[in-house]
Amino acid sequence: MSNVEGRNALVTGASTGIGQAIAIRLAEAGCSVAITGRSEARLKETADLCRRAGGAVTTRALDVRDLDQIAGVTKELLSELGRVDILVNNAGINRPAPTQDVDRDNWDDLFNTNVRGGFFCAQALLPAMARNGFGRVIFISSQSGLVGIRGQSVYCASKGALINLARALGVEWAEYGITVNAVAPTFIDTELTRERLNDPEFRRSVLTKIPKGELATVADVAYAVLYLASEQSGMVNCATLPVDGGWTAW
Ligand SMILES: NC(=O)c1ccc[n+]([C@@H]2O[C@H](COP(=O)([O-])OP(=O)(O)OC[C@H]3O[C@@H](n4cnc5c(N)ncnc54)[C@H](OP(=O)(O)O)[C@@H]3O)[C@@H](O)[C@H]2O)c1
Repeated sequence: MSNVEGRNALVTGASTGIGQAIAIRLAEAGCSVAITGRSEARLKETADLCRRAGGAVTTRALDVRDLDQIAGVTKELLSELGRVDILVNNAGINRPAPTQDVDRDNWDDLFNTNVRGGFFCAQALLPAMARNGFGRVIFISSQSGLVGIRGQSVYCASKGALINLARALGVEWAEYGITVNAVAPTFIDTELTRERLNDPEFRRSVLTKIPKGELATVADVAYAVLYLASEQSGMVNCATLPVDGGWTAW
């Protein structure tokens, strides 16, 4: 269905959770995947699983808060792989806090990871994609970019920024065969959310907001990304695809 065979993909934040699932799905579909995270050691499991799924894998330590690292790693990958066709900006963090408890470090860390990192990864790779006449850039936003969620103002702001960043970049690069889109998942049980979801009251409050009555899974997001990464999604540009069981519809 989704033709990504032979493409080279870079997935940031691929050591765990959603990024890991995306890397494996792309590898299974015939991509060569470059996977990154702050620690190269933490990428080993994902690398093994991608190889088992049949894909070639390259790993790199890349802290997306560090613009020099972004410049260095993307340059290295372009020279080693020849091209990067698909960029999945997945690395992200959340530090839920009521408004009055948000300090400058909290704000900077969230925005530098969730927004600035993704922008500069895209900036580094878009010109080479344009030269090849094909590119797919996918931002892992969140339903929190579409609605307000109590105690998550900074996270909501950062994920909302990605949705409009995808629109603006998609407009600017469309003429080169590049699409830029965002995916907006609801709650998924990963390292990011586990502590909160283990609180039965919080979990119940989440489930009552999802018409489908269940959490999303990392596989749900990986399939959405696979579609947006494919050749067949070429007319889908500047869009946000909710993977939220209906949370944001009511
Ligand atoms: N789980 C959910 O409910 C949910 C819902 C909607 C959207 N999302 C989004 O989905 C993405 C993945 O989240 P997840 O749930 O899979 O969480 P996760 O398991 O905590 O994964 C986050 C990934 O990002 C990496 N990372 C964190 N800071 C980084 C940095 N400065 N530089 C590079 N990599 C960094 C982590 O790797 P290292 O620690 O090894 O660096 C890890 O692989 C995030 O953008 C998140 O906002 C999650």
